[in-house]
Amino acid sequence: MAVKGSAKAKTVWFCTNCGNEYSKWMGQCPACREWNTMVEKEVVTGKRPLAVSVPGAGHKPMPLKDVSTAAEDRVSLGSAEVDRLLGGGIVKGSLVLMGGEPGIGKSTLSLQIPLSCPSLKVLYVTGEESVKQVKMRADRLGGDPSNCLIYSETLMDNVLAEAESVAPDLIIVDSVQTMFCQNVESTAGSVAQVKEVAASLLRFAKGSGIPVILIGHITKEGAIAGPKVLEHIVDVVLQFEGENRGPYRVLRSIKNRFGSTSELAVFEMTGTGLRQVDNPSELLIPQHEAGLSGTAVCAMLDGNRPFMFEVQALVSSAAYGTAQRSATGFDVRRLNMLLAVLERRAGFKLSQKDVFLNMAGGLRITDPACDLAVIGAVLSSNFDYAISGDVCFAGEVGLSGEIRPVSQAERRAVEAARLGFRRIFVSSYTRFDRRPEGIEVVKVADIPALVKSLFR
Ligand code: TYD
Ligand code: MG
Repeated sequence: MAVKGSAKAKTVWFCTNCGNEYSKWMGQCPACREWNTMVEKEVVTGKRPLAVSVPGAGHKPMPLKDVSTAAEDRVSLGSAEVDRLLGGGIVKGSLVLMGGEPGIGKSTLSLQIPLSCPSLKVLYVTGEESVKQVKMRADRLGGDPSNCLIYSETLMDNVLAEAESVAPDLIIVDSVQTMFCQNVESTAGSVAQVKEVAASLLRFAKGSGIPVILIGHITKEGAIAGPKVLEHIVDVVLQFEGENRGPYRVLRSIKNRFGSTSELAVFEMTGTGLRQVDNPSELLIPQHEAGLSGTAVCAMLDGNRPFMFEVQALVSSAAYGTAQRSATGFDVRRLNMLLAVLERRAGFKLSQKDVFLNMAGGLRITDPACDLAVIGAVLSSNFDYAISGDVCFAGEVGLSGEIRPVSQAERRAVEAARLGFRRIFVSSYTRFDRRPEGIEVVKVADIPALVKSLFR
């Protein structure tokens, strides 16, 4: 919908964290409360279409009971794991944002979609790589490229015009940062441009019923226009995580209008593309010699799936005056809290020690059930006493050193037993409907009780 009047340039301030727009600079964003995240941007107003419009917008109000709720039409993308993350395939007319750091595998995974489902007619728009580069990658990945159209273009008007005339089953746009709309007068990759690109793709997807996968780089801190600013525009956000150095990549759904979030799929980067890992537990518990101190296994739950992974800690005397604390894949503030609890509630002197923490497989863990395994790994390293390989943990630790129960403890215990674990430490307040078979459940009330039964 065009607004009457000529185009006018004005300066606005965007928060690079949440994407909110303000007319003046502020030190702290009122919406997300982050400090120093405002950047100045010139935008052109007047000719800009409304940011988002949904199908049926502009029609008369109708009784809610008359709205048809036929199941959404979904299209399978040829990968069981990606389909599962999306809630059973991609919904027609939806806009999916796939975010991740550069080099993590977004282009690879999205190119594997048309190659593994030749029945889908896919329009692959590349703004980053040349048609030749995409072809070379496709040759490396293998599969059937017969129904995949490659289009090297960055101007959105051309992309949408082609999409309309080709009428594919799926459109992939790589990436949002390289595309631009003519009606916004700022450079490609700016906040105003990525918002407008996403909004125009959303309008196209809703209007035509063709699903769109939009790739977006998560920019390093300070850089503007990461997918964060698009999260509220798109229907689904899938995020790639993992260490670029390691072979494993985690794809997580962090927003899904058509399915559950906090689902997760693990992929392995091989010489011929990304391969799905059906049983992540088996790979997140590295096979090393028994008797290594500083490791503990957590029985964790992500979305609906229980799996096991290893927490590693290294505790050593501080080399410099102040002790260092570093955590990879775990909130360092939470680590500090747990160390403070160990010090105050259980009498361990850790303030003069460096503590390093690492989650196996480059995973980022937010499940509070991981606390107990973190404590276990830290104590194991501190005492240089190895925890037996068939022991695992699932418990949250409170500020007074008490161990709290976690959700679905029974499912965690069953998964642990299935993978050969023989003992699981949980909170004393855990209730089981049925005692899990084949595994001893050790209930502990607080940290001193944990220490007593673990290092007896
Ligand atoms: P890419 O999909 O280009 O990342 P993104 O689009 O997220 O920036 O992935 C690039 C990395 O993946 C690169 O470091 C090489 C590696 N790779 C493989 O290991 N095997 C493969 O078959 C392919 C295609 C890429
Ligand atoms: Mg890429």
